[in-house]
Amino acid sequence: MAGPGRILLTGGAGFIGSALARALVVDGWTVTVLDLLTYAGRRSHLDGVDAALVVGDVCDEALVKRLMVGQDAVVHAAAESHVARSLVNPAPFLRTNIEGARVVLEAAAAEGVPHAVHLSTDEVFGEAPPEGRFGPDAPLRPGNLYAATKAAAEALVHAIRHTRGHPVSVVRCTNNYGPRQHGEKAVPTWIRLGLAGEPLTLHGDGLARRDWLHVDDFAAGIVALLRRGQPGEVHHFAGGNERTNTQLAAQIVDLCGGGSLAYLPERPGQDRRYALNDDATRAALAWAPKVNLHDGLAATLSWAQEDPRRVALE
Ligand SMILES: NC(=O)c1ccc[n+]([C@@H]2O[C@H](COP(=O)([O-])OP(=O)(O)OC[C@H]3O[C@@H](n4cnc5c(N)ncnc54)[C@H](O)[C@@H]3O)[C@@H](O)[C@H]2O)c1
Repeated sequence: MAGPGRILLTGGAGFIGSALARALVVDGWTVTVLDLLTYAGRRSHLDGVDAALVVGDVCDEALVKRLMVGQDAVVHAAAESHVARSLVNPAPFLRTNIEGARVVLEAAAAEGVPHAVHLSTDEVFGEAPPEGRFGPDAPLRPGNLYAATKAAAEALVHAIRHTRGHPVSVVRCTNNYGPRQHGEKAVPTWIRLGLAGEPLTLHGDGLARRDWLHVDDFAAGIVALLRRGQPGEVHHFAGGNERTNTQLAAQIVDLCGGGSLAYLPERPGQDRRYALNDDATRAALAWAPKVNLHDGLAATLSWAQEDPRRVALE
């Protein structure tokens, strides 16, 4: 079991990173965030968080090497994260998600950082069959460009272990939701439309299924991994809240006090289902999600209502 020490957190001004920064500080870690503050990252996401913010690029090898010195752990959460953007402009995805991962994880290996953790996604497996869930050893068959860059980064994790003998933990999670998520993502989009009294838009027939995990539960899982996990393991974190997109949007309509749904053409390459089996992680890390989906969505809605600019599309 590792006690808290110094930790480098890339992407800490983003959605998951800023929730994780909060959880790490509460757990006693001394946190340095490295974030480029792209359109997805905001300085204000770290308001009230006792963490040092270094504004910079994970592809900047000299900067990353310098920041890695003396760290007890590193969590690599920086990424280009929006699938729809990867279809129209893949270049930043290839650069940040692959080259950025190489720079961060090789620097961790060169510096001998005891625990390096790479954030990956359920999307690396591609579309799940109608029944069953992917376990940690299932083959990777990414179905979109974003997922392909995340799978490539996982291949680098394997290569770095093989060539440098340095283990890196891989974490895959299902769809996160909660405060500070960018307005382009599904839940903030539906909240924005619902609050404006407009129809909530869905792509395709609305029957694609996702499993929803509150971001604070995921952050708690990463803290548990740092405390109780062994470097080099693969861990799955799932919400246990599988819903069709229509079901989730309808739940947000209800929370908004009424409204309607509108169906748009399907997105190219849309996977019908993602599903992770996290039984081993729950047992190994004594972790389980705590936030009930209804309560988590209601709290996210309240957070957006306090200042609707929080879910603006900008
Ligand atoms: N949100 C989800 O539901 C989800 C699900 C599975 C996996 N993930 C993974 O979790 C991680 C975090 O996702 P998120 O939803 O918080 O994303 P996000 O887009 O909200 O945040 C990404 C952060 O990375 C920063 N960043 C981007 N390029 C950078 C660069 N070159 N150098 C430094 N910083 C850079 C951005 O400024 C932003 O703060 C990603 O690796 C993502 O693939 C997210």
